[in-house]
Amino acid sequence: MIGFVIERYRAEDCAELGRLHFDLLGDPARNGYSLATVGPEFMADAFYRLSLDNPAFHCDVARVDGRIAGFHVFTSEASSLTSFLVRRHPAGLVLAALRSVVRRPRSLVALLRNLRYLGGEQLSFLADVKGWWIVAGIPPVYRTKEFEATIGGSIAHMMMARMERTFREADIDKWYVVVPPDNIPSTIFVQRCGAVHGGTAFAQGKEMRYYIKQMLPEGGSRGA
Ligand SMILES: CC(C)(COP(=O)(O)OP(=O)(O)OC[C@H]1O[C@@H](n2cnc3c(N)ncnc32)[C@H](O)[C@@H]1OP(=O)(O)O)[C@@H](O)C(=O)NCCC(=O)NCCS
Repeated sequence: MIGFVIERYRAEDCAELGRLHFDLLGDPARNGYSLATVGPEFMADAFYRLSLDNPAFHCDVARVDGRIAGFHVFTSEASSLTSFLVRRHPAGLVLAALRSVVRRPRSLVALLRNLRYLGGEQLSFLADVKGWWIVAGIPPVYRTKEFEATIGGSIAHMMMARMERTFREADIDKWYVVVPPDNIPSTIFVQRCGAVHGGTAFAQGKEMRYYIKQMLPEGGSRGA
C-alpha cells in the first residue's frame, strides 16, 4: 500500500523542491527567463526558503512514501510575491542571487528580467484577478494512468482542488496562470480546470498566454 499525502511544504523540503523545479522548468530554451532558469540553488534558497514566512505564499507538496511527487505553488496576493522577498529578506535574496551569478553568470539576465515583476503584473485583463496559480510540477512517473490508479486520481487535479479551496476561504473568486503556448500538457490541464484564455503578453522573454478562471462559490466552474 502506497503512502500518499498532499500537504504544505516545510523548510526541509526546500532543497529538493529547488532541484525538482529546476529539472522540470529550468531549461532556458523552453522557459525563457523564468526564475527557475536561475538555478536549483536559487529556487531552494530564495524562492522557496525565503517565502516560508509569507502568509500569501502557498506551496503544497505531494508525497509518495515520503518522496516529493509533485509541487503546486500559488499566491492569494499576486502583487506581493517578489516585493515580500525584497522587503522581508533583502540580505538573503541578494546572497542567493550573488551565489547563483557566480555559479552561472548567465543567470544574471534572468534575475534582472524578473525585477520587473516587483509590483506584480500590470495587465488590464488581470485588474480584478487576485489569485495567481504560479506553477506546478509533477515528474512524468507520477503522471501515468497506472500510477494514478494506485492513488485514485491525478495529483495535478487533487492539488488544484486544494488551491481553489484555499482561494474560496480567502474570498478569492478568480485566479490566473501564465502558460507558454508550446507547453501542451499545461495548456490542456488549465483548460480542463475551467480556465479560459484571457489575453496574451510578452513575459520572461517569450510570448505567453494568460488563462483566467472564474470560480463558482459552491465549487462549480465557468470561464472568465
Ligand atoms: C502541467 C502538469 C502539472 C499537468 O499535469 P497532468 O494533467 O497530470 O499532466 P499530463 O502530463 O497528464 O498532461 C495532461 C494531458 O495532456 C496530454 N498531453 C501531454 N503532452 C501532449 C502533447 N505533446 N500533445 C497532446 N497531448 C499531450 C496528456 O496525454 C494528458 O491528457 P490525458 O489525461 O487525456 O492523457 C504536468 O504536465 C507537469 O508537471 N508538467 C511539467 C511542469 C510544467 O510544465 N508545469 C506547468 C508550468 S505553466
